[in-house]
Amino acid sequence: NDVAQQVSTGAMPGWDRVEALAVQAHARYASNADGHVADYIPGLAAADPELFGLAVGEIDGSVHGAGACETLFSIQSISKAFVYAMVCDAVGHGVIKDRVGVNNTGLSFNSVIAVELNNGHPMNPMVNAGAIATTALVPGATPAEQWEVIRTGLSRFAGRQLELDGEIYHSEMRTNQRNRAIAQLLESYGRIDIDPSDAVDTYTRQCSLRVSARDLAVMGATLADGGVNPVTGERVVSDQVCRDTLAVLASTGMYERSGEWLFEIGLPAKSGVSGGIVAIAPGKGAIGTFSPLLDSAGNSVRGQLATAYLSRALGLNIF
Ligand code: DON
Repeated sequence: NDVAQQVSTGAMPGWDRVEALAVQAHARYASNADGHVADYIPGLAAADPELFGLAVGEIDGSVHGAGACETLFSIQSISKAFVYAMVCDAVGHGVIKDRVGVNNTGLSFNSVIAVELNNGHPMNPMVNAGAIATTALVPGATPAEQWEVIRTGLSRFAGRQLELDGEIYHSEMRTNQRNRAIAQLLESYGRIDIDPSDAVDTYTRQCSLRVSARDLAVMGATLADGGVNPVTGERVVSDQVCRDTLAVLASTGMYERSGEWLFEIGLPAKSGVSGGIVAIAPGKGAIGTFSPLLDSAGNSVRGQLATAYLSRALGLNIF
């Protein structure tokens, strides 16, 4: 936090400056070994705690990477943001707002109590209950069709074909009893219309798609760019959907730490338990980070520090 807070008006600094800051952000925090690797999914417990990569994607299509920015990892909860955007595009603002909600639960991402306390309403699409309810709304007549829509859609955000990490998927399917319970609870309240086991299976697949910090920067830059992928030039979702998605990320993307995150860093963002974070600067670009050591809310420690540094140095805080 010793970098002067830049004013957020205007474009990103020039290419060379962003390139240098990406390298500096990496060097500054590479030796920080605080936090713990997620261990509730056996496949994630094996992650190398030393890994650390980051990338800044700009809406002109340039991408500035540092460290392990090409290393692939399972996207986990960050998929929720992009599946939400796709479902908003397919079913519309009102339907998803009523069915899934947009308010923070104040409870952990896999809370069963939050569902019970709210009469079966999942509250928002970034907790597991809301993400499973959102995945259940993905267009498609069968789970296989829904999965193809998700894989293709997230690949369009990334600008390349994303693949499933089979090991993580199987590891998580063996240990996701809590998500199955949440899905059954949602069905009991009439909140999902498809078979709850199918909804959990598809949700688990979406969490197991492999991405890099560079992919996250491009995916985030697509949301920053009003729904057009700045690298491929393809329109992925509408600009209205980007506004909806960024509003939800600002209030719920970092779980029960979302308020603190917005206060300190001032950017809509989404984290995942494998160690990824994407933070979006509307109209400018996005920062993708990856480092598996997490804090107690499940957010990457090095990722938060590097994003805070870059948000300040690049003048990205939206407030
Ligand atoms: O459903 C789960 O528990 C994981 N597939 C994803 C959770 C996650 O990434 C939460 N992130 N902080």
